[in-house]
Amino acid sequence: MKKLIVANWKMTPLTASEAEKTFLETERAAGKMRKIDVAVCPPFVWLPVLNEIKRSRKKVALGSQDVFWENSSAGGSFTGEISPHMLKNLGVKYVIIGHSERRKHLGETDEMINKKIKAALRSGLKTILCVGEKERDASAEYLKFVKKEIVDGLTGVFRKNLKDLIIAYEPIWAISSTPRAKEDTPEDFFRMSIFIRRVLFSVFGKSAPEAVPILYGGSVDAENVSGFLKEGKADGVLVGRSSFKAETFVPLLKNTI
Ligand code: PGA
Repeated sequence: MKKLIVANWKMTPLTASEAEKTFLETERAAGKMRKIDVAVCPPFVWLPVLNEIKRSRKKVALGSQDVFWENSSAGGSFTGEISPHMLKNLGVKYVIIGHSERRKHLGETDEMINKKIKAALRSGLKTILCVGEKERDASAEYLKFVKKEIVDGLTGVFRKNLKDLIIAYEPIWAISSTPRAKEDTPEDFFRMSIFIRRVLFSVFGKSAPEAVPILYGGSVDAENVSGFLKEGKADGVLVGRSSFKAETFVPLLKNTI
């Protein structure tokens, strides 16, 4: 299976022209790489202009960093929100849901995340559920925390929709915006991915665990990416800071193969 490399641009760049430039440079580099799929998730406002570029260049898919749980205003009025249908109309294929920065700064709860996951899957979006603990503790409470994020996030999800589900394990202590962040090790990620597959088995039964790709995220860069993909056996990576600029993202892409 191809490895999936997802760029989470967070709240960058500041202008459309910078977004176009980084996207084009990413597209140029990724276009030659047969063994990976690449998705760029810019802020919503840059999706239309990047979708225009994407019409003629097919390699890099578009994703968004969030989505709302209602598809139209038939279900009520929701000032400021963006629906799954709107995203699909803009050529969006992937959506990141439940990122720890949204959980922390915007008060996203497992219940809200669950509604978003179900709406995104219903619309046929490739849906990336982000999970990960704030810190490690000797009595392994963090495993219970991650399990709860998965179980609550996926409540009511149908087995038939698992083909569009992706889980990103992003320990908060490893995300570059956390003070003194340090990436996880490939060995530890591998153990966590087995744990996550066990949780999926407990929720959905057999064959579910293999159906869902598990990505690693948290301070991934050009130096450590191949460790997570090879020794860590990650199905892909979710990259924040190192994806903001082509100067750091292109070398990272090159080191995936
Ligand atoms: P980082 O971010 O690569 O900058 O640590 C990852 C993420 O927040 O998705």
